[in-house]
Amino acid sequence: MNNLTENPAYTYTINPDLNSIDWDYVISLFYKIEWKHRKAEEIALAFKNSTTTIFVFEGDKIIAFGRVVGDGRYYAMLADIVVDPDFQGQGLGKYLVTTLNSQLVDYHFVNLSAAPGADRFYKSMGWKKQTTAFIWPQGPKQLRQHCEKD
Ligand SMILES: CC(C)(COP(=O)(O)OP(=O)(O)OC[C@H]1O[C@@H](n2cnc3c(N)ncnc32)[C@H](O)[C@@H]1OP(=O)(O)O)[C@@H](O)C(=O)NCCC(=O)NCCS
Repeated sequence: MNNLTENPAYTYTINPDLNSIDWDYVISLFYKIEWKHRKAEEIALAFKNSTTTIFVFEGDKIIAFGRVVGDGRYYAMLADIVVDPDFQGQGLGKYLVTTLNSQLVDYHFVNLSAAPGADRFYKSMGWKKQTTAFIWPQGPKQLRQHCEKD
């Protein structure tokens, strides 16, 4: 555990022991932000299969988390960047993204798929829209939310 310089009341851990994480609580945070399609045992496995994970705590309580899915050398994708709504607007989201990014300096491709409405969040940190990105839509909702019209 390390204290956040931005707010010493908060601590963070990179690559914590994922067996110590309360995944039901993590799921409750996903519900709080209206991302309701994840399940506790599946998200636990997904985090375990990730190359980097980060959790921010207030005391024992998880208040923010994020992860990198990657191959350890060339390709990496940031995913599940989440801040508890009660703690948003304090720089934690920016902290998650820049800290994960700082682990990926020599990578060939670093990208992410932003949630609808989060463009400005990523642009505020210098991320660019990727003109060559493609997606294989996993259903009509993704087709609607993430795809250009043909
Ligand atoms: C998006 C999210 C991670 C931002 O976390 P946060 O801790 O509130 O963000 P920060 O306080 O670090 O804000 C960083 C910057 O982004 C801006 N910002 C934050 N949330 C934003 C949003 N939803 N839309 C647009 N801009 C946003 C802030 O104004 C700030 O700009 P500044 O540096 O010019 O002041 C948080 O709102 C969240 O968990 N949302 C639900 C899940 C989600 O959408 N995740 C990201 C997409 S994959």
